[in-house]
Amino acid sequence: MKKYQVLFEPMGLTGEFPENTSILDCAHKLGINLVTVCSGRGTCGKCLIKLIKGPVSEVNETEKTHINPEELAQGFRLACKTNLIANCQIEIPAISLSTLQRAQIEGQEITIVSEPKVKTYQLHLTPPSFSAHQADLERLQTALSRHYQTEITTDFEILKQISSTLRENHWSIQAVINNSELIGLLSPAVRPLGLAVDLGTTKIALYLVDLISGQTLQSQGLINPQTTYGADIVSRMTTAIHSQEDAQKLREVVIDALNTSMTEMCRSLQVEPDSIVDFVVVGNTAMHHLFLGLPVKQLCKAPFTPAVDSSLDVKARELGLNSATGAYVHLLPNIAGYVGADHVAMILSTGLHRKQDITLALDIGTNTEICLSHRGSLSSLSCASGPAFEGAHIKHGMRVTQGAIEHFLIADNRIEYQTIGNGTAVGICGSGIIDIVAQLYLHGVIDRHGRMHRQAYVREKEGVLEFVIASGNGDRPDITFTQKDVREIQLAKGAIRAGIEVLLKTYNLTVKDVDEVIIAGAFGTYIDVSSAISIGMLPALPWSVFVRSVMPPAWALKWHLFLLDSAVLLRR
Ligand code: FES
Repeated sequence: MKKYQVLFEPMGLTGEFPENTSILDCAHKLGINLVTVCSGRGTCGKCLIKLIKGPVSEVNETEKTHINPEELAQGFRLACKTNLIANCQIEIPAISLSTLQRAQIEGQEITIVSEPKVKTYQLHLTPPSFSAHQADLERLQTALSRHYQTEITTDFEILKQISSTLRENHWSIQAVINNSELIGLLSPAVRPLGLAVDLGTTKIALYLVDLISGQTLQSQGLINPQTTYGADIVSRMTTAIHSQEDAQKLREVVIDALNTSMTEMCRSLQVEPDSIVDFVVVGNTAMHHLFLGLPVKQLCKAPFTPAVDSSLDVKARELGLNSATGAYVHLLPNIAGYVGADHVAMILSTGLHRKQDITLALDIGTNTEICLSHRGSLSSLSCASGPAFEGAHIKHGMRVTQGAIEHFLIADNRIEYQTIGNGTAVGICGSGIIDIVAQLYLHGVIDRHGRMHRQAYVREKEGVLEFVIASGNGDRPDITFTQKDVREIQLAKGAIRAGIEVLLKTYNLTVKDVDEVIIAGAFGTYIDVSSAISIGMLPALPWSVFVRSVMPPAWALKWHLFLLDSAVLLRR
């Protein structure tokens, strides 16, 4: 039997397979996990691939029911219905990959040229002698000036360590300089690291970046421990206003969580936290203020004024963060009371401020920020969409992790779903939640008002109707989606859609005028756009209009920030 080669991009994986093998089987044999909710029967339409080079089998009728002519012409096919007939090159869109594999690919997508603000200089100093007894700091300053034409000032805490550190390292050292200030002394072999933090209302994401190569070495996500003080920012700010002690606790729990995560990440890389020489932190304005211990009372009252909206540099040690002695935490500027530094990060990383068409960009989370770029002019707002899409307030909602139902489908009156890791279902994550509501609506289980009706798979428990998604066993409960869950999603998606409509109305536009919709952030990469359209969360626009953008703030560590965030402030 003839064999042909398939090259899968963007992984760069190649394999040789017998003629007529399906592309889906080829991918699976190479360890590429595609979304296959219907297990290859051709009913879910989720296993989309794009043909880059070489002929494959003819488009069949099943594919035509899932892919429109325009997309077919662009080379989109279903992996389970496309067979090998010659050597070919296939691109796998991120949306067709299982969540875990998507996360790996996303890690590669943010590769940019590293141009960190914090520089390190390798120095080999001549030890002092009776004939050359210059002081230690001046010896270092002279070497920096001679070899690198760099004049420095010194963090006073560094001065306390300089003599012992130089001698312990036998006069070979890396001087860490931030904007002409000596902020750290590292052993010559230590890689200087940066930590980028996205301080979400419900989740915190951390990215540990090698500042020389620009590579993101580790990332970690955790639930914001402030959630025990309230799921939303208003209740947390109320807590902080009523008690100075609670305000302090709100700050401390985040700092403790960051230090714990940083220590874990550093331990797994076998480095010390003092190799972290720079930080970038973004968050909404309330998170930003609570993190810094700034007053929030004025944020809760009209006209919702932030204490500060310019970018800030604060010593990490003053905030209680473990790091190189003199490291700074750079906080991007806030725009307004409820549009914060995380939104600035989205604008900068998606290049929204440079676009000349009409683009909507959404960062979906507990607070969803939306920006409309109208030929270069930017308008932003935030919506209280709540934590439902992150699994909170949903009976069987859970985070994006092993066992979460990430895709769901009703086909031929059968329930089909796919879990992260393809194991037993233990709950439902955000993308699964959107799929479920869309499918229940499309199959008449819920009506356009969100009311659930009694029919197959629907039962009543404690006076509440619920749709049974997966049956449990003695140890595991059934996984269900309840009428109350539907109401939570209606509130969340209603807030987002209202935000979109308000922005469009500001410019007298309709959804038809929109050239591009950027769905930013990790959540944006997981959701099925057609499901989000079905439930009315996103406007009904052609598939090609939607762009997903992964924008962890790690990019911000790799670039000079002052110029970039000043540029945004000038334009707003
Ligand atoms: S796996 Fe190909 S259509 Fe479902």
